[in-house]
Amino acid sequence: MGEMTTKAGASELFARRFGGGRAPEVISVPGRVNLIGEHIDYHDLAVLPMAVPRAIRIAYRARTDGLLRAASGDGYGELELRVEGEHVAGAPGDWGNYVKAAILAARSRWRVSRGIEAAVVSDLPPAAGLSSSSALLTGFTLALLRANGIEPGFEELMAVLPEGEHFVGTRGGGMDHAAVLACRAGAALLVEFAPVAVTPIAIPAGWEFLVAHSLVTAEKSGAVREKYNSRRVAGTAGLKRLGYESFREALASASIEELTTRARSELAGEELLCFLHVAAEAARVRAAAAALRAADLEEFGGLLDASHTSLRDQLLISCPELDALVEAARAAGAVGARLTGAGFGGCAVILCRQGERSAVRERLARGHYASRRGFDAANHLIDAEPSAGALFA
Ligand code: GLA
Repeated sequence: MGEMTTKAGASELFARRFGGGRAPEVISVPGRVNLIGEHIDYHDLAVLPMAVPRAIRIAYRARTDGLLRAASGDGYGELELRVEGEHVAGAPGDWGNYVKAAILAARSRWRVSRGIEAAVVSDLPPAAGLSSSSALLTGFTLALLRANGIEPGFEELMAVLPEGEHFVGTRGGGMDHAAVLACRAGAALLVEFAPVAVTPIAIPAGWEFLVAHSLVTAEKSGAVREKYNSRRVAGTAGLKRLGYESFREALASASIEELTTRARSELAGEELLCFLHVAAEAARVRAAAAALRAADLEEFGGLLDASHTSLRDQLLISCPELDALVEAARAAGAVGARLTGAGFGGCAVILCRQGERSAVRERLARGHYASRRGFDAANHLIDAEPSAGALFA
């Protein structure tokens, strides 16, 4: 982790790029790893992410005019936009899209007339399923609002950020924004939707999480977008065909066994598979929250494994590299492991017994990764200490 990616690094880049004068404010927005509850937030079902000790940091200063100027320390270049202008999305993967999305998100609820100059640094690997995109959107939205004298609350931000992300094309849910904003150090965050509510659940002493990269990048605003969105459409179509308005209604009115039996007889293809995943994953989140509270490590690990199986075999969002990584992690001594985030590449989350994380990491580095090109231990094997979100950093 280089010096450049710290808060001081952001201020330094700011000074180099925008000169002296009033010192900038710095916002720190972490990435998140989802422990369990995958591809269900957009169906308004609860999920259980936690923030990781990697973050995007934005040093910013309010301007008196409506110009937004941003410089990135990661070779993404610079951009200049007007906060009051019309904005259309640029090429997929362009970081300017997230800045435009932030302007639109802020303006959708507040009056924003002043721009900012901002320097961005990050030690959060992009396109890894760790929410670097949501962190960027969240960070710029906060910076812009604060520069306009607005201190938004969590619920207000949750009312605009997920919608803002749709500008970039992914019809995702609100998990990422809730996590990067509201996680507390030392805890996972149970996030419920409609209405949004968050409950920190302490990670029991001795549970150690590792985040490992499959070395397949999954750029959500790129090719993965269609595949991601199609799972949402299929799950909803299955639900409607069974006569329900929402998954919450379905899960409240019948047991998982009953729902599974009905789905198997009345649905087929993608609709069946997506429906089965969503219903069972919702139940796993409830069980995982209970296991966390009871400090039942083995139970929690088993749920991670079951989630991966469902993501691989029913939702069909894994890939050979993720499957191999999850297998290797288990063989290296993990209690449980699964792909995390949108899928189609990105990272796996791995749960280790107390004191065993470094051994698991070593075994993965020497075994699984030894023959894989592009492996860089500092960025591809991250000790995921449960960290604080932007509102509590
Ligand atoms: C992406 C989305 C989230 C969520 C996950 C899958 O990260 O942004 O809202 O849907 O995928 O669980």
